[in-house]
Amino acid sequence: MVQDATGKTHVKTTINGEPVEFLVEPYRSLLEALRDVLGMTGTKEGCNDGNCGACTVNLDGRIVDSCLVLAAEVSGKQLNTIEGMATREGLHPLQQAFLEEAALQCGICTPGFLVAAKALLEKEPHPSEDSIRFWLAGNLCRCTGYDKIVRAVQKAAETPSKGSK
Ligand code: FES
Ligand code: FES
Repeated sequence: MVQDATGKTHVKTTINGEPVEFLVEPYRSLLEALRDVLGMTGTKEGCNDGNCGACTVNLDGRIVDSCLVLAAEVSGKQLNTIEGMATREGLHPLQQAFLEEAALQCGICTPGFLVAAKALLEKEPHPSEDSIRFWLAGNLCRCTGYDKIVRAVQKAAETPSKGSK
């Protein structure tokens, strides 16, 4: 990593399969870089201290709270965000199932749930209800009561093209 004359760090990374470069202060979180530097506002800020999961992204195959990761740490890594879930062909089956099951209300938690649930289905294509609830335990929702979210993940797991992207 290189710092420019203003002390900003030059970050080269890959986001949703595309090479991305940006300058950011070394103390900024990945969440701040996504939203404020790159304009990728799909990733949400809830607590900003690692408790709610609203800011969940996938970093090198692991889900992380982007509010707890420094932006400079993603140099050379593969980052996947909510913006990478839908394709030109349409919504990801999880997104479709969340709509059909009414698994969201205010929507602040939804991108985090979707990114986390996608990682679960890639690891475990047919998870039990207990597995879904355990995996999503780090994602908090103040609106839905969770049952609809769990049903949506179960429904997406039954959709043949769930691994589309
Ligand atoms: S905003 Fe990152 S965990 Fe809540
Ligand atoms: S839909 Fe509002 S916090 Fe989950």
